[in-house]
Amino acid sequence: MNLIAVSSHQPITAGDACQDPVLLNDWHVVGYATDFVEGTLYPVRLLERELVAWRSSDGQVHVWEDLCIHRGARLSKGWIKDDKVVCPYHGWRYNGEGACTLMPAAPDETPMKKARAFPCAAVERYGFVWVCLGTPAADIPVFPEWESERFMKVHSGPYVYEANGFRAVENFIDATHFPFVHAGLNGVMDNPDRLEPYTVEETASGLKSSEVRVFQPWGDARGTPLVAFYTYHTFRPLVGYFSKRTQAANAEGQPVTEHSDTFTTFFTVQALDATRSIVRVLASLDVDPRPSAEAVRERADVVFGQDKDIVETQRPERIPVELRYELHHRTDLMGQRYRTWLRNKGITYGVI
Ligand code: FES
Ligand SMILES: [Fe+2]
Repeated sequence: MNLIAVSSHQPITAGDACQDPVLLNDWHVVGYATDFVEGTLYPVRLLERELVAWRSSDGQVHVWEDLCIHRGARLSKGWIKDDKVVCPYHGWRYNGEGACTLMPAAPDETPMKKARAFPCAAVERYGFVWVCLGTPAADIPVFPEWESERFMKVHSGPYVYEANGFRAVENFIDATHFPFVHAGLNGVMDNPDRLEPYTVEETASGLKSSEVRVFQPWGDARGTPLVAFYTYHTFRPLVGYFSKRTQAANAEGQPVTEHSDTFTTFFTVQALDATRSIVRVLASLDVDPRPSAEAVRERADVVFGQDKDIVETQRPERIPVELRYELHHRTDLMGQRYRTWLRNKGITYGVI
């Protein structure tokens, strides 16, 4: 245990897990807003830290270290009484501010000031609950279509990947696996796309690619052939995004219209630890005709299930950010740049 890194406001266990400031000071999705119902305690794992989440009667979601400062018992094994978290060991009660308000063995005494929970920053946005274990270095990444009424929004997942979170993100920003992993949906195995050269630039909001063109026989829930132009974006080490412009196509892969529809996907990864992840997805669609939300979710379940199956096989499990450990082709530019970007951010957790 690394006690040196533990400040007076952190639990004694904080030194055991991820120490990368870039990850600790970033926002991570730990659930859908609807997962957290008032009156229940929810254990949450993030970057090897054990947390407890609960919703108080004012609607606020709280996420704390899953640890009672008294004797280190797990608060998530306790319960909620009178809008306060009750520790299951000696019954200390903590209010929504994290302050202990009652020590049952001395009910007439005011609990000492240090009798406090260890709260993390927690915010609800885009239908997700986001947590920062340290001090937020930036706001939650912007999901560009969220405010626009033109787009229907569909959440899907959670998808549990028994895999490294960076491997999961890299798979999400990879266009050359479509004909093989998603054969018949996002590509054609017998006629894989030739990828034209594309560029990747580093912007204030992360890495961004130019358009990557592919043919998709069943490119979205409408089930019709499309030419798709993907723009990939990595907002954060564990939050990816693409915007896909699509044109109706014939079976030979040629567009039959000038009109473009738009389908975007916000891809979030909760790294449980270095080799286990939970993926949650938010899609937005401005397409004609509009599929049902159920059809969008069903298709996402198939596609991310296919991705999960392949990503779970990758070895080494931790993504190599040293480029020489794997082989990179010009068609892998986005993934290659993603790895270098992670390395330049000083990330050491979950990478080799
Ligand atoms: S360990 Fe929580 S009240 Fe004692
Ligand atoms: Fe995929």
